[in-house]
Amino acid sequence: MCGIFAYLNYNVERERRYILEVLLNGLRRLEYRGYDSSGIAIDSDLDAVEVSLKEAPYESAFPLVFRQEGKIESLVGSVYAEVDAMDLNLEKPFSVHAGIAHTRWATHGVPSPRNSHPQSSGAWNEFIVVHNGIITNYEVLKETLIRNGFNFESETDTEVIPKLAKFVFDKAHEAGQTVTFSQVVFEVMRQLEGAYALIFKSPHYPNELIACKRGSTLILGVKELTDISNSGALFHDVKALTTNGQPKELFFSSDLCAIVEHTKNYLAIEDSEVVHIKDGCVSVLKFDYDKEKPASVQRALSVLEMEVEQIKKGNYDHFMQKEIHEQPHSLTTTMRGRLKHNSVLLGGLKEHMKTIRHSRRIVFIGCGTSYNAALAARPILEELSSIPVTMEIASDLLDRQGPIYREDTAVFVSQSGETADTLLALEYALENGALCVGITNTVGSTLARKTHCGIHINAGCEIGVASTKAYTSQIVVMVMMALAIGADRISTQARREDIINGLSDLPNQVSEVLKLDREMKDLAESLINLESLLVFGRGYNYATALEGALKVKEVALMHSEGMLAGEMKHGPLALVDETLPIIVVATRDSCFSKQQSVIQQLHARKGRLIVLCSKGDAQSVCPGRSCRIIEVPQVADCLQPVVNIIPLQLLAYHLTVLRGYNVDQPRNLAKSVTTQ
Ligand code: F6R
Repeated sequence: MCGIFAYLNYNVERERRYILEVLLNGLRRLEYRGYDSSGIAIDSDLDAVEVSLKEAPYESAFPLVFRQEGKIESLVGSVYAEVDAMDLNLEKPFSVHAGIAHTRWATHGVPSPRNSHPQSSGAWNEFIVVHNGIITNYEVLKETLIRNGFNFESETDTEVIPKLAKFVFDKAHEAGQTVTFSQVVFEVMRQLEGAYALIFKSPHYPNELIACKRGSTLILGVKELTDISNSGALFHDVKALTTNGQPKELFFSSDLCAIVEHTKNYLAIEDSEVVHIKDGCVSVLKFDYDKEKPASVQRALSVLEMEVEQIKKGNYDHFMQKEIHEQPHSLTTTMRGRLKHNSVLLGGLKEHMKTIRHSRRIVFIGCGTSYNAALAARPILEELSSIPVTMEIASDLLDRQGPIYREDTAVFVSQSGETADTLLALEYALENGALCVGITNTVGSTLARKTHCGIHINAGCEIGVASTKAYTSQIVVMVMMALAIGADRISTQARREDIINGLSDLPNQVSEVLKLDREMKDLAESLINLESLLVFGRGYNYATALEGALKVKEVALMHSEGMLAGEMKHGPLALVDETLPIIVVATRDSCFSKQQSVIQQLHARKGRLIVLCSKGDAQSVCPGRSCRIIEVPQVADCLQPVVNIIPLQLLAYHLTVLRGYNVDQPRNLAKSVTTQ
């Protein structure tokens, strides 16, 4: 996946240096989405005609494209070096200017300046485009364009887009027609298959920007709309927006994190919508394959509930560290307004609760950490709802085309709400007639929009690529969902009250367990040079084993496996020796005595044990033996995975720092995987 960003100032003077910084800063905020390479496009000082009186195909400023392999900071260095070499005046003011930017997670073509975005239509940069997503029919389009005389420079799927725009533009001109920028983009969209969020810039349409999307998320941020009142500003075409006041600065972004420092007024652009910014006005048009002309759409701006602090590291060294430590707060926000007088209020599910209670089964669907969170919540959902609960990794469900029925409730769990596998599984479940529930951290995400109903986890922006606070908030939301589904059963009332009390106290218990930070650093120091780590769990904490191991492998780049302790004798025991560290999760719940027996068997094989147990249980889990103990507060069994994962998150974090790897941007990964 990639991040795209654009900035347009109108009727307000901005110096080139400021414009560059807004674009580069936008990329810094989006860097977690991809960090292979990046690029930006701004206007030069020279009109194209001044560059070459003869050849210039337009009269406005010639767009400059800067692209660089590596992290955003290498782009920053190269942009300023090139600007210097070109003698561009950084203090030059622009009363209107449109710039675009991109950060890339490579799918088609290796990371290199050539494959970075903006991609161009060719000489003179007549059309330049930044893209997030994948164009699935790019090979066919490329062949056609080559037959029509276009030369391709990159290995990307994206390059067909600006070239197609030029092709459409040239054809109209050859026929003596004038075309608007949006007409060009509509024709391009007609040809494209796949998923995309696109931003177009063209010197044929100076100081205009066009963005459109299908599949991938795209946000418009609007700053200084003079009489904007909460979500009251309606706009659908130039006239409507003008009557509501004129925006001075506009932003397009792949997510809200990159606009929150500029404005809280935003619009989550819908699929097939085309947003055209021209003369400081915004028109929202709807693209329809069957119609020749686009319809204008009326949309309301929303007000972002996010604070700038959320996207800053504050006093922490890394986002992952910050996000681990802010879990008492994120869990509080997740539960805010939802726990009332021994009951749980989940407004998002209210209308569908009857259908959920009557479902034949509940199927959890997700990937990676989100799947693990659902796995942690599965036992309590089974217990309180008495409905069979099954688990599906989204890609596996799709590979098997596994059965999903009309009588199923399919619950999709995704922090980003944009994971391609999860969204494809959602389409599949919708086609099969299941009731689809979304659990996501991302307001306005595709998952939030396409499911029938759902719950936002409200954990706040998660920037570290390794998911931490979203995991614990997801578990809490699913526990609350289990409580809400089972709310009409007298027989489980005491149990439910116990859990609700536990939920209220959970942030305090999490604060308590975070005090293990120093101890986890010491443990990390003792493991720093090892090659492998196993984590054994069962019951509620099978998920803890999987998630703890996932954290260690993805950030500390150390091989680690989470295993079901009940499976130990069926193979993994062969690995046990005096050197391989094994973490056994043995906190107090109905599986405790079985875990005691696992520990004994591992001792008998001289295993190198680290036991995570409830406070005061050191002697019970390791009588007279040498094992390293991590003691955590005991909470209600179904909430214990929230507490238990925290020392393992801390361990993964410290191991990564000590091993010298990039904590927030692990090798080869991206925050959300929008490709299959
Ligand atoms: C691991 C991690 C991934 C994601 C997975 C699904 O720390 O972050 O395993 O959990 O890619 O992403 P979402 O939850 O955005 O669907």
